[in-house]
Amino acid sequence: MGGMRDDRTIAKPAILFLCLGNICRSPLAEGAARAAFAKAGIDAIIDSAGTGDWHIGDAPDARAQAEARRRGIDISALRGRQLRRRDFYDFDLILAADATNLRDARELGPSDATAELKLMLDLLPGRRGEGVTDPYYGDDDGFAATWDDVDAVAAALVAEFSPSSG
Ligand code: 4NP
Repeated sequence: MGGMRDDRTIAKPAILFLCLGNICRSPLAEGAARAAFAKAGIDAIIDSAGTGDWHIGDAPDARAQAEARRRGIDISALRGRQLRRRDFYDFDLILAADATNLRDARELGPSDATAELKLMLDLLPGRRGEGVTDPYYGDDDGFAATWDDVDAVAAALVAEFSPSSG
């Protein structure tokens, strides 16, 4: 498969958010992006995955679900899955939460991957190279900060993929 891609426009962007467990950062990013794209009326494929296998089939962490709910978004139906080879062809863009996730993804990714791989915060001015802090081992405040980061990333993505933007 693979097929030809039109480099000028992506009719229906496919974006994968990646973290370690796929129960905190990447499901929050998925929830924020799904909401932002829907609000903008842009058709997109949005998904998330983890590099690790501990939480396959699990719902997002209860604290992540609570934070999303506070922001008006229900992520309770999301289920953890692990990054797989096929993702490197199925998605246009794989956005890793931190440098470790990015390195692990590069190690797994095939040399002829068609997906572009970068950090989530590379999309935000002044935050290039930064990681989204993992809130898993911290207190509830961490989840609010994580939401603020991934919501800004979602807005940047919508701007990037809006038909009206260059
Ligand atoms: P996440 O956070 O990568 O943002 O989903 C984590 C969740 C679980 C674990 C580590 C990080 N864990 O080791 O189980």
